[in-house]
Amino acid sequence: MSEMMWGGRFTKAEEKNALDFNASISYDCRMYREDIAGSIAHAKMLAAHGIISAEDQEKITAGLKKIKKQIDEGQFDFSIELEDIHMNIEKRLTDDIGDAGARLHTARSRNDQCALDLHMYMKRQIGRLSEKLIAVESALLSAAVKYKDVIIPGYTHMQRAQPVYFAHHMLAYFAMLERDFKRLEDCYEACDMSPIGACALAGTTYDTNSLEEAEDLHFSSVYGNSLDAVSDRDYLLQFLSFASICAMHLSRLSEEFIYWSTSEFQFIELDDGYSTGSSIMPQKKNPDMCELIRGKTGRVYGHLIGLLTVMKGLPLAYDKDMQEDKEGVFDAIDTLYFALDIYAGMISTMTVNGDKTREALEHDFSNATDMADYLAKKGLPFRQAHAVVGSAVHYCIEHHKYLLDLTMDEFKSMSPLFEEDILEALKIENCVNLRESYGGTGRKSIERQEAHASETIAKM
Ligand code: ARG
Repeated sequence: MSEMMWGGRFTKAEEKNALDFNASISYDCRMYREDIAGSIAHAKMLAAHGIISAEDQEKITAGLKKIKKQIDEGQFDFSIELEDIHMNIEKRLTDDIGDAGARLHTARSRNDQCALDLHMYMKRQIGRLSEKLIAVESALLSAAVKYKDVIIPGYTHMQRAQPVYFAHHMLAYFAMLERDFKRLEDCYEACDMSPIGACALAGTTYDTNSLEEAEDLHFSSVYGNSLDAVSDRDYLLQFLSFASICAMHLSRLSEEFIYWSTSEFQFIELDDGYSTGSSIMPQKKNPDMCELIRGKTGRVYGHLIGLLTVMKGLPLAYDKDMQEDKEGVFDAIDTLYFALDIYAGMISTMTVNGDKTREALEHDFSNATDMADYLAKKGLPFRQAHAVVGSAVHYCIEHHKYLLDLTMDEFKSMSPLFEEDILEALKIENCVNLRESYGGTGRKSIERQEAHASETIAKM
């Protein structure tokens, strides 16, 4: 018989390389708190239904609390021979308290146990991540308020398009992260369902009550089908989808921060605390944090595709392939947590250079739409107005001018509809302030967005 906890059926020990390959303890040890809390609840339920004695329950609970303290304090040696966190803890408990420990696994399987631990672990991590998400959203809102008068060129195709308030740009990211937050709340809901009681796959013949156990562990509901409870990892895939979308948002912001901080743009300056230097070029100040966050987005996507691929061909119920669910999810959690934490600090400490953005706006044609709108409002069909202004831009480029440099005679020669007030209409401030359509960049629209953002944060 082999020494393993499941060794009864075996006549020889597992090969060393097979043992190493099989073990998940190096990463699933992260779930020790959940594993112990789950086992304490399981013992309580077993005792309440007369499946184990009250005395056994007490021994199990005290024994598990002792083990938790040892792990908390780094005094617990995990063993590869015991494969995973579940068997490491159970074996130690049984070594410590004897038969009572060996009764803990009644009406339970590692299949529902590991699913339970994962659901609980995800709930805890989602709580941590949502706090960080709120911190980034608060930083975006504060930056919008702090730089409320700064106007920047808005781009399409990376070409200057129309001016927008810097605040509008920050609030666009706020809106994206607000939806990420909702997605994260949905993930929490998906994880808030207990799989315990499903046992290996088919439920149990014991007179247990998995609802009681789930309630004790603060779950809102219980899986209604034992095969489903131990077989699916859709809640993890939902989380990885959320994480991928959120990382994509942060990656786009990173891309903008990177080029906004180049010498060519100089729209922002990242704080020294969030920048790095070069080992050879003394003048360099590099936006490494943004580049890393942009780069690490790749691994988050990879974990989503990785787990989707692991799951796609698996027959019901549990298959060992599913042990591959954890590392990617854990890494996605760590990566996103780090990225959000960095972003909260980086946004709060950066400086926005309104003079530079102004300079950029004064040397471009991003008020051209307003010139066309001016003519259209005076009755010229918009397509014709567009053509007049297109020629005006062409004329300006040939004569090394911008639209506001044109003389009244030049304006009049382009269209008799132009009058003195065209100069007002082309001013950058008016280009932004008059865009008061719902969600536009106008001042009142920004104020409405800010008020909504503050309310959203207060409710989070
Ligand atoms: N370490 C395993 C995992 O993470 C636990 C479940 C093992 N169950 C089994 N029947 N071998 O998936």
